[in-house]
Amino acid sequence: MDFPFDAPTHCAPWVNTPIDTSEPSIARVYDAVLGGKDNFAADREVALKFLEVPGAQVTPFDNRRWLKRVTQWLVGQARIRQIIDLGSGLPTTSSIHEFAGQVADDVRVVYVDNDPSVLAHGRALLATSDNTTVVTGDVCDTDALLTDPDLLNLIDVERPFAVLLASVLHHLPDGEDQRVAAHLRAHLRPGCYLAIANFHNPGPSDPRARAIESALVDGGLGSGWVRPWPQHRMYFGDLDLVPPGLCPVNEWRPDNETPDSSPVHHLYIGGVGYRPEAGLDYS
Ligand SMILES: C[S@@+](CC[C@H](N)C(=O)[O-])C[C@H]1O[C@@H](n2cnc3c(N)ncnc32)[C@H](O)[C@@H]1O
Repeated sequence: MDFPFDAPTHCAPWVNTPIDTSEPSIARVYDAVLGGKDNFAADREVALKFLEVPGAQVTPFDNRRWLKRVTQWLVGQARIRQIIDLGSGLPTTSSIHEFAGQVADDVRVVYVDNDPSVLAHGRALLATSDNTTVVTGDVCDTDALLTDPDLLNLIDVERPFAVLLASVLHHLPDGEDQRVAAHLRAHLRPGCYLAIANFHNPGPSDPRARAIESALVDGGLGSGWVRPWPQHRMYFGDLDLVPPGLCPVNEWRPDNETPDSSPVHHLYIGGVGYRPEAGLDYS
């Protein structure tokens, strides 16, 4: 198969990595900004720098609400019954299988993360159902990920499935983000979906975007880049976009839980791409 990008390069091996609480981790900093308890001083130090940017504290909550609406649209409207949540994070708030379960009780969900804290917490919380599992995996190694025996126990990749990739690509360096998105797209057969959301840099009109980036990248985490609109659009490549397309997450099929005005809503954008299947109505 020909990819428009080179094979992934930068991701270091993570298997059996011990939990290091002296350094901030992406999953635990995110847990801290969402008000969770699974974080340590090093994580809270970065979280505080992020929260000092005016309005920034809203974006993780906007993201979680978007994930709920996307999941419930995928299950309710698109009839998806298999979901792979890549870079799932700690189960700080309600998880994807809970969102899905409010719509249908036969949805299988595989959570994937490369942070050992996520595996530890996830196994404890999610091992309660035959329809969910947690897999350690690196989004940069898509081929290994999508052939993982534990993932394949729940997901039949010959049938339609959805991939969620929220707040993950902005933690990959320039180039690696596009490579990962391209490799994922190549694995999507007709009827599959790819939902992506990330920090957005609208340019000099809103310096808070760069302030968020600086708080995360220079504040100790080393990643958390904000990118302009065209780079986000490229993530979806040749996929079609579910209406309303790529937009601030609060404008994506809002419901009565979605804030109708937010001073920062253009700093966080997302969309849902799909490979069309003949005879289906995607409106
Ligand atoms: C900011 S959290 C987002 C969690 C969840 N997706 C959400 O949007 O609410 C990003 C997650 O991606 C994970 N992550 C970052 N790089 C990754 C990689 N290369 N492979 C797998 N997971 C990764 C982190 O460990 C973290 O749990």
